[in-house]
Amino acid sequence: MANVTVVGAQWGDEGKGKIVDWLASRADVVVRFQGGHNAGHTLVVGEKVYKLSLLPSGIVTGTLSIIGNGVVLDPWALKAEIEKLESQGVVINTENFSIAENCPLILPMHRDLDALRETAAGAGKIGTTGRGIGPAYEDKVGRRAIRVCDLAHLDSLDAQLDRLCAHHDALRAGFGQPAVDREALIAELKEIAPFVLQFAEPVWKRLNTVKKAGARVLFEGAQGVLLDVDHGTYPFVTSSNTVSGTAASGSGMGPSSAGFVLGIVKAYTTRVGSGPFPTELEDEVGQRLGERGHEFGTVTGRKRRCGWFDAVLVRQSCAISGVTGIALTKLDVLDGFEKVKICTGYRLRGKVLDYYPSHAADQAAVEPIYEEMDGWQGTTAGARSWADLPAQAIKYIQRVQELIETPVALVSTSPEREDTILVRDPFID
Ligand code: IMP
Repeated sequence: MANVTVVGAQWGDEGKGKIVDWLASRADVVVRFQGGHNAGHTLVVGEKVYKLSLLPSGIVTGTLSIIGNGVVLDPWALKAEIEKLESQGVVINTENFSIAENCPLILPMHRDLDALRETAAGAGKIGTTGRGIGPAYEDKVGRRAIRVCDLAHLDSLDAQLDRLCAHHDALRAGFGQPAVDREALIAELKEIAPFVLQFAEPVWKRLNTVKKAGARVLFEGAQGVLLDVDHGTYPFVTSSNTVSGTAASGSGMGPSSAGFVLGIVKAYTTRVGSGPFPTELEDEVGQRLGERGHEFGTVTGRKRRCGWFDAVLVRQSCAISGVTGIALTKLDVLDGFEKVKICTGYRLRGKVLDYYPSHAADQAAVEPIYEEMDGWQGTTAGARSWADLPAQAIKYIQRVQELIETPVALVSTSPEREDTILVRDPFID
């Protein structure tokens, strides 16, 4: 089956937007299966820059784009994003866009709770995107969520709202906040409902139909494997499973539909928000990586923390997510460095580890073991074949591939769609 599942193999922001956009232009369907509008994807097509947080990247190319049930959906953010894209000339209609009717909603009370908790946590905060993602997933699992299909039955929602508001009102009282304004909430939902409902359908059914017709499906993961609620740097993670396996449960297609799993890997490491980061550089090298890589969050504008490439973490992500091949991005940010370093192992209280442990205290305590390589002086920016790359840059790529025990399928050398070295076509192999 010629499907592709894309996941970030680090802490998000690996440059998935461009790769997904490039793959989307060759796919028949693009599906988002987890996360919400906390995902920041920047697409550069010619002169135009599109910023997406919630919509699948295929929307820009007019490819059928689907929001699966594994996503948490903020209806107002959805409307704003659609209107912004339409103002940039993107056509979005019921032919090319649909939303799973069983998708849980992010409501204003979720945003409130996200902010209240982060403020109360002070220095111990997660550093969330403040979009209400975590609280919305909690309500989904707690079986009190309002879902897209409920928007068609707002007049008979009393019992559900009782359960939901009872839970939130107790939490809000603990923070000294007033109860949820139910009348205002219902009025807001009534206003937005027709807009959302025009796109709602049983997505699993549509996917089953396109599958039978032999369509190529692209599953677009958001965030990164290290932010996975099970496998990531818990508790400094997002609230969904970001691994490739979620493509199945978050869309309603079986696991055999995942196809080629493409892990997106930045040539160095970045992270936004709090949490451990073994190779973080708080010196001028880290500063240089951030400046050259324009490392500011797409969603929140926050400065990203930067560090050397961590082969241990990426090897782990690739194993956990069953990555078939990687797309290496932003290699040009390393251009001109005299020396570059790769983390190949950790030292923890006298022991050498070849994996990242689960306990938060151990994760914070590991010290990276580095391998140093000569850098390269020529530029890799805009390269479209191996012949365009300096020899030392090729050595770096080969070493990365060896250490992470996963082959390189693509190398992306600028934000432009065409600036890509294709080693192995995920849709064909
Ligand atoms: P939340 O997903 O807003 O709950 O945030 C939880 C953690 O995930 C925080 O560290 C965020 O910075 C991080 N995060 C969420 N979405 C993204 C993303 O798209 N890129 C990078 N980090 C993200």
